[in-house]
Amino acid sequence: MTTIFSGVQPTGIITLGNYIGAFRQFVEVQHEADCIFSIVDQHAITVQQDPDDLKKAIRSLAATYIASGIDPEKSVLFIQSEVPAHAQAGWIMQCVSYIGELERMTQFKDKSEGQEGVSAALLTYPPLMAADILLYNTDIVPVGDDQKQHLELTRDLAERFNRRYGDVLTIPEVRIPKNGARIKSLQDPLKKMSKSDPNKRGTLYLLDTAKEIEKKIKSAVTDSEGVVRFDVAEKPGVSNLLTIESALSDVAIEDLVGKYEGLGYGAFKTGVAEAVIEHLAPIQEKYYELLDSTILDEILDQGAEKANAIASATLQKMEAAMGLGRKR
Ligand code: TYM
Repeated sequence: MTTIFSGVQPTGIITLGNYIGAFRQFVEVQHEADCIFSIVDQHAITVQQDPDDLKKAIRSLAATYIASGIDPEKSVLFIQSEVPAHAQAGWIMQCVSYIGELERMTQFKDKSEGQEGVSAALLTYPPLMAADILLYNTDIVPVGDDQKQHLELTRDLAERFNRRYGDVLTIPEVRIPKNGARIKSLQDPLKKMSKSDPNKRGTLYLLDTAKEIEKKIKSAVTDSEGVVRFDVAEKPGVSNLLTIESALSDVAIEDLVGKYEGLGYGAFKTGVAEAVIEHLAPIQEKYYELLDSTILDEILDQGAEKANAIASATLQKMEAAMGLGRKR
């Protein structure tokens, strides 16, 4: 059976970009493979987090996974810091990483640029991510487009480890969605939709109310042509909205273009907003039901136990191959 692994950082409410780029794929693949999903809280602390906010964000993300359709009977869901092998294997992967290749990561450049007091862990973030993936003998990693470079590095590090210490690690493949690999900001459709965008009107959050969704989509930046067609270079705003509706409604972009033929941007935006609201309503309902339930703790306890068993076995093999301690 194929093994699939992915992780999401618990840093605030997830965006529609996270949902389309990651969660939608997770739900799609969980019937075809052994799936393991993580709430990567150790990655979140590479930038300073308020402890109470982090706690809430972890629980919120767990509820989001389940509300989005992750079935805990089929998939393992766990919190990274509850499986110590991640930090241990993360250290090992740091030891096979070169500073130069870590400095070349665009996420590191973006997050560190112009910042004072950049943590060392922001630089060593990708080897921890590699450890997350490699500990589960992962075949496929579903992520959005922005994580592609980290996945290429993961493969390089795994290959380097295997060359040095023997054939221990599985080399993973990346899985990027065909539609919605990079959802753009509603206010600047050349930029990725992001949790950390200071312009909150550009970002749709999974828990936005119908009113908020409508307002943000109505004020989305488009162009002055007034014709709904898909052309990322010439019409990035309209193309982004088409991508969003298509990803959520499972209607092909060409068919949506047909649906809006002869209609102006007002009707188009109303249609997109309706599709988003309709798709998110049942997820939001389930989310609020789950948030304070004990079921969530049971799922996370079981997930940590299952993840620990797999991860510690791989860690043991890695340590033995490297000659660490007294392991064989
Ligand atoms: P994170 O938490 O930033 O994002 C979670 C997932 O959402 C995707 N994503 C998007 N997809 C489409 N359009 C967007 N605008 C958009 N914004 C975010 C991301 O590509 C990602 O799939 N480093 C990872 C977390 C991580 C991880 C891992 C992922 C840690 N260990 C192991 C996979 C495997 C990150 O920061 O994702």
